Amino acid sequence: TGIVHVVGARPNFVKAAPVVSALRGRGAHQTVLHTGQHYDDRMSAVFFRDLGLPTPDVDLGVGSGSHAAQTAALMVGLEKEFTRTTPGMVVVYGDVNSTLAAALVAAKLGVPVAHVEAGLRSFDNAMPEEVNRRVTDQLSDLCFATSPEAVGHLAAEGVSPNRVHLVGNPMIDTLLGNLDRFDADALRARLDLPERYVAATLHRPANVDDPANVVRLTERLHEIADLTDVVMPVHPRGKAAFDRAGLGDHPRVHLLEPLGYLDFVALTRGAAAVVTDSGGVQEETTVLGVPCLTLRPNTERPITITHGTNQLVTEADLLPALRKALDGRTAERIGDVPPLWDGRSGERIATVLTQWTR
Ligand code: UD1
Ligand code: UDP
Repeated sequence: TGIVHVVGARPNFVKAAPVVSALRGRGAHQTVLHTGQHYDDRMSAVFFRDLGLPTPDVDLGVGSGSHAAQTAALMVGLEKEFTRTTPGMVVVYGDVNSTLAAALVAAKLGVPVAHVEAGLRSFDNAMPEEVNRRVTDQLSDLCFATSPEAVGHLAAEGVSPNRVHLVGNPMIDTLLGNLDRFDADALRARLDLPERYVAATLHRPANVDDPANVVRLTERLHEIADLTDVVMPVHPRGKAAFDRAGLGDHPRVHLLEPLGYLDFVALTRGAAAVVTDSGGVQEETTVLGVPCLTLRPNTERPITITHGTNQLVTEADLLPALRKALDGRTAERIGDVPPLWDGRSGERIATVLTQWTR
């Protein structure tokens, strides 16, 4: 019984925090289950500290592996847990393997599933996340969408409209709720960073899994560093490849360990521009009004382009696009944030969940 939030990877924690908090405010019976997909302190525990998330009631400690090995281990662990506790509702977040595994296991046990951040589509099945998103949405009894086009995708895939709720973006609840805690000046002083810099973060398999591609990306990042300092907290996925490619050898490239949430958003807030392939960072820069260059051929978050500061760039476009952004020639759209990205999404989700589980 009760609501079980299944989280496992860095972006999950940022999305779950406002939902857990809104349900706590309503006295709901809920537990937080950590799958252990991410486990380093800097990829996991720091988010619980920064966001005031309760220590997980359960940690499955699943860890890393190939897609099949990791998903299988997640499913075995989750099945044991759900069989033991018979949740009244399982809430899953985003598009990581923990999301897919929990939806599959819950659906087969007849436990209702709610998917937070449903309906996003890149229409690129080469992205593991796209597969996770499609399957999870088909299995979900409740689909919480962050943007109108996501509602359209769900309708086009035959998801009944009474399962779909447009609620806005809980990741932006977390951002707005912590705005006065993102102190770029303090971060600069603490990490000895320059006044002006470009922040970079790259971890998509399509960018970082092929060492030859990482060598090319390193050349591009060095070209940017010839213009201005580059600060890059390195995701563990690309770390070895970027080290081998000599990314840190440029005097104006500052490589960091993955940052905690408050530090990372402070870094973003203080940046002249951001280079990324992250999903969440496209949304956060949209609200912060920081130019965002997304090094991908597509995005499941097109609203960050139409309403925000985001643009898709190829490796070849990166330097010219960045020059424009640094010259202030990129359209500033501060304030033009997507509808319902207003800090109240967690409350909207909690309202639907409490009605459903009553
Ligand atoms: C996962 C998600 C991705 C999300 C990202 C957020 C899937 C398929 N991918 O990708 O959608 O954008 O998280 O950051 O679920 N590792 C560590 N320490 C950790 C965790 C991972 O060193 O705490 C290393 C391991 O070598 C591991 C690799 O990173 O093999 C990848 O981790 P994994 O969770 O499988 O995928 P991510 O690339 O992190
Ligand atoms: N983030 C962080 N530290 C970092 C990089 C990212 O706290 O070093 C935060 C970022 O602000 C956002 C979330 O992690 O809230 C995005 O996660 P990530 O980029 O790993 O995954 P994606 O959104 O691409 O799935």
